[in-house]
Order: sequence, then structure tokens, then C-alpha cells
Amino acid sequence: MAELSRIGVSIDSDLLHRFDSYIAGKGYENRSEAFRDLIRDRLVESAVVAGNVVGTVTLIYDHHTRLLPEKLTDLQHEYHDVVISTLHAHLDHERCLEVVILRGKSKRVQQLADRLISIKGVQHGRLVMSSPEVVSRHTHKHG
Ligand code: NI
Repeated sequence: MAELSRIGVSIDSDLLHRFDSYIAGKGYENRSEAFRDLIRDRLVESAVVAGNVVGTVTLIYDHHTRLLPEKLTDLQHEYHDVVISTLHAHLDHERCLEVVILRGKSKRVQQLADRLISIKGVQHGRLVMSSPEVVSRHTHKHG
């Protein structure tokens, strides 16, 4: 477990008041954890831009759209170097939910996600990326 450091932060009262309202709404019990999450979030963001990421692409689509399931599969084969796994659920008679788990260079992960999401017939799609390296270091819960 990493050593815990205490820091003092000067912040104007109005900004702090708004921050407190914001974190209360998010369910934080104290400022420290909220600050740590914000810092981790920014570090992940910068690591994501620079290097290796893990991510998920969530897709909702109509599987009756001509050639759509084939296109989704073909693309995932083309990017087999970054695709770890795919989860598929049949939501109702028409719609499918697919979650693709990815790992690799952020540029390539982003590129595959963009290509999947933009296929005709995909009704909604979203990529979420994270950097396990940044998150796992210095992650511990203190008051
Ligand atoms: Ni399905």
C-alpha cells in the first residue's frame, strides 16, 4: 500500500461550495475521495491519449439490417489484435446488445470503436476507455 500524503489546497469559497454540492449529489461522503477520483480521472485521460488502454464498446443494433451482423463480425476479425472478447444479448425480436472488450493502443481502439458505431443500423454506440496502469497504482480507500 502506498504512503498517504496530506496536502493543503487553497480554493475560493464559492468554488468550494459548488464542489461540495456537486460531490454530495454524486454520493461522496468526504472531499478527499472526490479529489482523488478527479485526479485519477485526469491521469487516466492523459494516459489514454498517450498509450495503452482497455475499453468496452457497447452497441445496440437491429440485427435485421442487411449485412449488419456480418459487418460487425468482419470488423472484429480485422482488429483481432485488440479485441479480447464479445458479449451478445438478444434484447427483443429485433434488437441486439453487444459489448466488445478491447485492449491496445488508444488510437487503434478508438478507430475500431468509431468504425463499429458508424455502421448503418447501429442505433446507439459508445466507447469507454480506461488505463489500468494508472488506476491500479495509488488506489486505496482512506477517509
Ligand atoms: Ni441478437
